[in-house]
Amino acid sequence: MPPRVRAHGARLRAAGSFPARGHLLPRRAPRPRRRRALGGPDGAGAVIIESILTTVNERGAANFAPMGVEWEEDEIVIKPFLETTTFKNLEATRAAVVNLTDDVMLFARGAISDVQLPARAAAVVRGVVLEAACSWREVRVEAVDATPPRARVVTRVVHRGFQREFLGFNRARHAVLEAAILATRTHLLPPEQIRDEFARLQVIVDKTAGPRERDAMALLTDYVRRTRPEQSAAR
Ligand SMILES: Cc1cc2nc3c(=O)[nH]c(=O)nc-3n(C[C@H](O)[C@H](O)[C@H](O)COP(=O)(O)O)c2cc1C
Repeated sequence: MPPRVRAHGARLRAAGSFPARGHLLPRRAPRPRRRRALGGPDGAGAVIIESILTTVNERGAANFAPMGVEWEEDEIVIKPFLETTTFKNLEATRAAVVNLTDDVMLFARGAISDVQLPARAAAVVRGVVLEAACSWREVRVEAVDATPPRARVVTRVVHRGFQREFLGFNRARHAVLEAAILATRTHLLPPEQIRDEFARLQVIVDKTAGPRERDAMALLTDYVRRTRPEQSAAR
């Protein structure tokens, strides 16, 4: 069992009915006790952008995790579950790099295991930039609301970097992203639902993927086949 699944399983036990991994709460669920970022004039929530978030601990060791963040020009809100390394690092070193990449293999690998990826030092904050990033934002933590089960970490953008073009929409890439999120929910969803969703997503991958997306989907498919629901929930 990959360590990060174990960590979230532990969270599930501790929190009872709370979700165990990322994106398990309805994204637009009203949470009146918290300040919410406003994304537009109609007061709707900010758009969620899927990133590979890099953080470092006090000793400088880097952590790479897929995270959906609330995106605004100068403020980015990160919502890690409290047991994640990401949350601990954000509290400890008060900085992160929000990496935007079109390489969905990194989301697939990050969803099912602890990954170490090629990276270099960030320009302004204490942290690292993913080599595979198309562009990135370096952010500093301004406020932390650590109300369980999921923190709300408000950050300020202090540097923007660009490395290469982010090409247009590709259905297979989006399908792999959805599959990666499903892979983090095997302990919460009925196996038939996971199987049906994967079958639907596989059709899109077959039609529109390149080799990288096909490999990423195969990795996730293999993972969900091997992971029995009780494995992640019971630990
Ligand atoms: C596309 C995607 C988005 C995710 N978003 C979040 C998130 O917003 N918050 C979170 O805690 N976990 C999220 N996860 C799960 C984490 O990436 C990961 O499983 C774990 O929660 C964090 O890893 P860490 O302990 O190394 O920080 C997401 C996973 C995927 C595939």
